[in-house]
Amino acid sequence: MDKQGDQQQTVTLNNGVTMPLLGLGTFRMRGLESITQAVDAALEYGYRSFDTASVYRNESDLGQALRQLLPKYGLSRSDIFITSKLSPSDLGPGARDACLKSLSDLGLDYLDLYLIHWPGKQGWRSDDARNPAIREETWKALEDVYQTGAIKALGVSNYTVAHMAQLLGSCRVPPAVLQVEFHPRLPQTSLLSWCQQNGVHLQAYSSLGCGHLLENVEVCKVAKAHGRTPSQVLLKWALQQGVGVIPKASSSVRIKENFNVWDFELSSEEVELLKGDGTEKKYCWDPTGVA
Ligand SMILES: NC(=O)c1ccc[n+]([C@@H]2O[C@H](COP(=O)([O-])OP(=O)(O)OC[C@H]3O[C@@H](n4cnc5c(N)ncnc54)[C@H](OP(=O)(O)O)[C@@H]3O)[C@@H](O)[C@H]2O)c1
Repeated sequence: MDKQGDQQQTVTLNNGVTMPLLGLGTFRMRGLESITQAVDAALEYGYRSFDTASVYRNESDLGQALRQLLPKYGLSRSDIFITSKLSPSDLGPGARDACLKSLSDLGLDYLDLYLIHWPGKQGWRSDDARNPAIREETWKALEDVYQTGAIKALGVSNYTVAHMAQLLGSCRVPPAVLQVEFHPRLPQTSLLSWCQQNGVHLQAYSSLGCGHLLENVEVCKVAKAHGRTPSQVLLKWALQQGVGVIPKASSSVRIKENFNVWDFELSSEEVELLKGDGTEKKYCWDPTGVA
């Protein structure tokens, strides 16, 4: 883990690209006005990373908000890190064009990180035996875009250990990032250790359990002990394991709160305590059945 400035912590990915460990999630953030307000607050409080996806249908608004606001904070394109994702409907021959469309919608000439959003093709059954081949074809197409410099780092999302092993066995460019649901009710122990052994950075989504974990008894207890909020404890729980986070929040108060996590530490006992009795709960998607 590297330290940059007083507040911003970053990770160096396996291809040398530097990525902030904390970014702003934008799933379900729609409309230019609300995105502009959120991006304004995020830039003010120190966020330099933004996570979007073609399926969020907010790439144009995010791009417009950033173009409008970067000068206000004396920032330029190279100061920020933008992630987008390939829609599951575009797995296969359309992957390259879909990536170029995301670039065009965002108004960018490069993406810092581009992820395959889901390991299966939309419209096919999860257990469709054609999924492994279409993933491989898609990755090859994105490797070609990567070689042009229009994508600075390539990764995947919602892949299991089996999907990752298949990818690593066939790729020219190894994945730099795996973005998955990750929080104390879903600690992804085997995936995290696979990533650590294979040089892939694990990035958490739904770190707050989509908001559901904010009232969890153990989380609230640890938060009280540190004089912090449940959200800060959940984010710190991931960060202390070397896992990046991209919490989504709409109000400037929450956006600020979620970034204010660098000046306290959880004990290793607390990191374990937060896992509760080990009962797992997914608040988002379940990719385990995807062939
Ligand atoms: N790759 C994938 O398949 C995938 C899947 C899901 C998410 N993601 C990415 O990960 C990001 C984060 O995940 P997520 O949006 O599912 O869930 P999340 O970040 O776990 O939780 C977001 C929810 O928590 C609330 N919240 C945020 N900060 C809070 C705070 N300090 N106090 C109280 N409530 C707070 C938000 O409310 P308000 O918005 O009302 O403030 C929102 O309802 C997404 O936005 C997206 O960029 C990726």
